[in-house]
Amino acid sequence: MTRIAVLISGNGTNLQAIVDAVASGDLPGIEVAVVVCNRRDAYGIRRAIDAGIPVVYFPLLPYTRAGRPRTDYDADLARILAGFDIAWVVLAGWMHVLSHAFVRHFPNRVLNLHPALPGAFPGTDAIERAFAAFGRGEIDHTGVMVHLVPDEAIDAGPVVAQVAVPIQPADTLEILEARVHCAEHVLLVQALREQVLANP
Ligand code: GAR
Repeated sequence: MTRIAVLISGNGTNLQAIVDAVASGDLPGIEVAVVVCNRRDAYGIRRAIDAGIPVVYFPLLPYTRAGRPRTDYDADLARILAGFDIAWVVLAGWMHVLSHAFVRHFPNRVLNLHPALPGAFPGTDAIERAFAAFGRGEIDHTGVMVHLVPDEAIDAGPVVAQVAVPIQPADTLEILEARVHCAEHVLLVQALREQVLANP
């Protein structure tokens, strides 16, 4: 089995898509060995517990309070994952940028999901910003991508999967968010199947 870690910060619907795909045999040979979450109130923690997956709650705050650098947090996070014998790391709504201190332990084996197309709307609130750009007549679609994570890049790196998501004139932000999330759940599982199974 190829052991993957899924890092989350929130609702965990993409974690759920992976869990469901593993359970239904859509990701043969892949096991979610651990879920890491940096927020205590994230609903994704409940999803992991319900799926019987070990959860590590690992907040940044104790490090910043102690005046310790981000690289300490990142190096400790890598050490934790090494303890779970992890081959691939999936950032599924993980809202921290990971530095070289983390990524160097998993070269070309960290995948990030982002709710926008390559080069468009990096960082937080990508769907909201796409919706606003649509309102200004600047774009007529947005999208979703999965990319490999090089050092310290924000939502950038070699793209391994992407799909366009249309925006309709009648859309509300909530409708667009739902459409984007549906696209993510499919694309992330597809990317895992292609990348992880090709390089277990
Ligand atoms: C997803 O839309 C994911 O693409 C996004 O956070 C959401 C998490 O949803 N990630 C980023 O914006 C990374 N910059 P989920 O917790 O329901 O999977």
